[in-house]
Amino acid sequence: MRIARILSSCCILVLTVTSSITSVHAQNTSSSAPTSSPQPGVNKNYANLLTYSMWFYEALRSGKLPSNNRVSWRHDSGLQDGQDHNVDLTGGYYDAGDYLKFTLPLAHSLALISWGGIEWYDGYTKANQASYLHDTVRWGTDWLMKAHPDSNTLYVQVGSGDIDNNYWGPDTGIPTPRPSYFINNTATGTDVAAMTAAALASASYLFANLANDTNYANQLSSAAQSVFALAETQPFHVYTDSVPAADGLYQTNTYMPQLVYGALWMYKATGNSTYRDKASNYFDQFSLGASTVSPMDWSDPTGAVYVLGAELDNSNTKYATAAKRWLDTMTNPSAPKAPCVFTNGGMLWCDGYSNSNSMVPLQDTSLLALLYSRLDSSKSQQYTDFATKQIDYMLGNNYMLTPYVCGVHANSPHNPHHAGASGGTDINNINTSPAEELHILYGAIVGGPNKDDIFYDERNDWSQTEVALDYNAPFQGLMAYQISTNASDPPYVSITDPRPYVSRSHGLAGWLIAVIVIVILFILAGIGYFAWLKREALRRRFGKNKEYAYAA
Ligand SMILES: *[C@@H]1O[C@H](CO)[C@@H](O)[C@H](O)[C@H]1NC(C)=O
Repeated sequence: MRIARILSSCCILVLTVTSSITSVHAQNTSSSAPTSSPQPGVNKNYANLLTYSMWFYEALRSGKLPSNNRVSWRHDSGLQDGQDHNVDLTGGYYDAGDYLKFTLPLAHSLALISWGGIEWYDGYTKANQASYLHDTVRWGTDWLMKAHPDSNTLYVQVGSGDIDNNYWGPDTGIPTPRPSYFINNTATGTDVAAMTAAALASASYLFANLANDTNYANQLSSAAQSVFALAETQPFHVYTDSVPAADGLYQTNTYMPQLVYGALWMYKATGNSTYRDKASNYFDQFSLGASTVSPMDWSDPTGAVYVLGAELDNSNTKYATAAKRWLDTMTNPSAPKAPCVFTNGGMLWCDGYSNSNSMVPLQDTSLLALLYSRLDSSKSQQYTDFATKQIDYMLGNNYMLTPYVCGVHANSPHNPHHAGASGGTDINNINTSPAEELHILYGAIVGGPNKDDIFYDERNDWSQTEVALDYNAPFQGLMAYQISTNASDPPYVSITDPRPYVSRSHGLAGWLIAVIVIVILFILAGIGYFAWLKREALRRRFGKNKEYAYAA
């Protein structure tokens, strides 16, 4: 039995024979692909990618959906959110393929989307996506303002992990109750309040200076100032100290870089130098310039602090120095204490981070590299080379011949871990029920391949196929950059071969194990048979004498 199982599961790379052209269209698509209509001369593939990514954010919307909702399989949902505390917490976004709402990753994502939008707004304009950018940010910031109903309160979570994580199904059956959780000026949440200020302030800058909506920008700025004051309320704590419900879901280990990040965005939005000085003082107080280099993500914006500080406070060389150290360490595996390496396929891989979503450190580092390259001509070439190579990896220049974006190519991931898109209702059979995703989740970035550059495309493998607000946030800026700089076609455009199929026990290892097991069994069988023959022969010849001898 055991040998049979090993044999049947041991395979080397086997090319599938499925058609590479038809499989994307073979999926049942009750919601049609968003249409992109870029301006003349604009790369239509990058315009498509940006358009699809905007559509993905629509697919994560919660609350009463507007009449221009493009995602036919999404319905009004979460309409009682906040009722347990008599506040209106309807709207906003679900964090991933489930139905929980979290303030921290949302705020982090909105700040990154706004940042990329501010820097490469022309990319959005060229792709005719600027109005979608405004709507996407606003859908999030409207909710953040609801989550901050008074100066002493910030709601940080809606829905319970224990309840929601036991549900797999459409948005029409979201389990209740959906408790809401908040921090305030006694049960503080420094990290989440400061990150919320960063989101509101960055959006305020976007609406004031690029979208030309002064009224909304002012509203955002007031809310940002209020929530930043809450962030500065002592004692400082990470919010999970006050809201254990978020433990293990979106838990940070620090509030220090968030305070600096919030203050820097406040300075950018208001021009008030008090915030610039607060940022600088917190930076020194927390010795952020000397931090060990680690990837930037929703839990730790340190890398983003360096780059934003270098832009906004350029007389203070500490930010630029730290930004260069961070980027040079992140992108060079032989740098002292480098936290990342490159896989054989060329993907930036940061142990402990990439394992649960390899496309995230790749994208966040690339985004910061591109943002910093605008500030420092001496580093520009090096950092843009790094980032464009990583973008190319992500968009098909990899062993799997796969762009890690749903719905753009036959080899795109077919099984993103998203309950609503899958059409499934059986939490015990996420992979097989149904076998084929019911709705294509256009534009969703999936977790990504493993350290061997291998991607299995299995719906229940959340580390590879999960989708989330924060996975697409850097993608927005990366695509706007590519459009803005007239990048040539993404690699997947010229891929016609299907994605190589890899079995779970992949590669030579499986063969070797089977061969070794078989050889050992033959040897054991041989020894056993030889011993048995020997014993029989001995017994036949000397058996009686032996018994006699013992008796004597
Ligand atoms: C905002 O105003 C500027 C200057 O008047 C203009 O060039 C730009 O197109 C406007 N942007 C939008 C989104 O309307």
